[in-house]
Order: sequence, then structure tokens, then C-alpha cells
Amino acid sequence: MHQKGGVGKSTLTLNLAVNFAKAVNVGIVDMDPQGSLTQLSTVIQDLDILTLEGKPEKIQKLQYDYIFIDTPPYLTNNLKYLINLADLIVVPTKAGIMDLMAIQGTMSLIKSQKALDKSLVVLNMIKPNTTLTLDIQTELRKIDKLSLAKTHISDLVSFTRSAFTKGIPENVKAKQQIESLSTEILYRFL
Ligand SMILES: Nc1ncnc2c1ncn2[C@@H]1O[C@H](COP(=O)(O)OP(=O)(O)OP(=O)(O)O)[C@@H](O)[C@H]1O
Ligand SMILES: [Mg+2]
Repeated sequence: MHQKGGVGKSTLTLNLAVNFAKAVNVGIVDMDPQGSLTQLSTVIQDLDILTLEGKPEKIQKLQYDYIFIDTPPYLTNNLKYLINLADLIVVPTKAGIMDLMAIQGTMSLIKSQKALDKSLVVLNMIKPNTTLTLDIQTELRKIDKLSLAKTHISDLVSFTRSAFTKGIPENVKAKQQIESLSTEILYRFL
């Protein structure tokens, strides 16, 4: 989740879910009325993409090993419910000054639900060789209880093309990053 548009929430959801689906039974719940992932439900075969008519209470009745929930870029009534329901809240963010400001709102919302300990901030769409990423990392570490993923997801065409490649990155680096982030996520459940 993140109340900022275009930080790569849907793309990351898809890539992680497809990677998990290699080994376990996975469902994606698209809670975003934009329906970015719902549009792909006919092309992605290894997992189900559901809208549940926008009713988050239906999630609890689902039978999957892992459920990935994609959220919209704005505050909805459902968001608090989803924060409480989730075992892990992945918050992708770009490494920009504006993004750093925007993430404070998302983290406050998570904090207000006493859910900071199950959040994981992921630096996303990272451009190579920029010291800004390091600066942002330093700033993020100052936020109390925030855990920052060791894996960074780069800005790669391979991710932009996710919809065409059914969420399986063609590029080796992209593939490694998704696998590494998946491992970090799994470790959170140990
Ligand atoms: N790691 C990445 N590298 C390059 N392009 C990316 C990456 N992640 C996402 N994109 C591209 O950036 C755009 C926005 O991504 P996406 O739709 O996943 O963001 P979002 O946070 O879900 O947006 P919204 O807030 O509208 O739901 C898309 O064109 C997508 O293909
Ligand atoms: Mg989206």
C-alpha cells in the first residue's frame, strides 16, 4: 500500500505474486477500482485475480496459501480494515524527496493501527548511481520502527513490460530482485 500514485504497487504485487505462485497457491485481490491487475486476469494463468466486488470482508473466506492485495493510491474506508487483516504490509516507495514526504502519511496511518511492526518499506523504481537513494535510505531509517527491505527494486524496462510478460521478469537483474524480495518476505513469517 501507499497513498501515492504510480510508485509501482500493482507491478510489484504482480511480480511477487507470480513468483510465489511457482511454489504455492496464490490469489491476488485487486482492491483498486482502477482495476490494473483485474485487466490481466485472463492472461495470468498461474494464479487467480479477484475483485471480490470491492468487499474486503470476503478475503477471510478465501483459501490460498498467500493472498496479495493491491490497494488504490488514495485513502479509502477499506484501508484500515486491510491493514488489520494483513500479515505483512509492503509499502513500495520511489527514492525521491516528494516520495519521502508522501510516505509519512502512509506510515502514520499504519502506525495509528498499531501495525508498524508488520510493515516493510521497499525502495522501488531505483535509478542506478544516485546518491539520492542513500540519502532517502538514511531519512527512512530515522522513522521509528520502520523496517526497510534490503532488496531494492530497480527502474527496469523488464518491470514496465510486466503486463506483457505475465509478471515473469525477462531480465536477470529484475528476476534476482524479485526472488531476493520474496525471500525477505518469507523470512518475515519465520
Ligand atoms: N520497477 C519498475 N521499473 C520500471 N517501471 C516500473 C517499475 N514498477 C512499475 N513500473 C511502471 O510504472 C508505472 C506505474 O506502475 P504501477 O501501475 O505498478 O504503479 P501503482 O503504484 O500501482 O500506480 P497506481 O497508484 O495508479 O495504482 C507503470 O507504467 C509500470 O509499468
Ligand atoms: Mg496500482
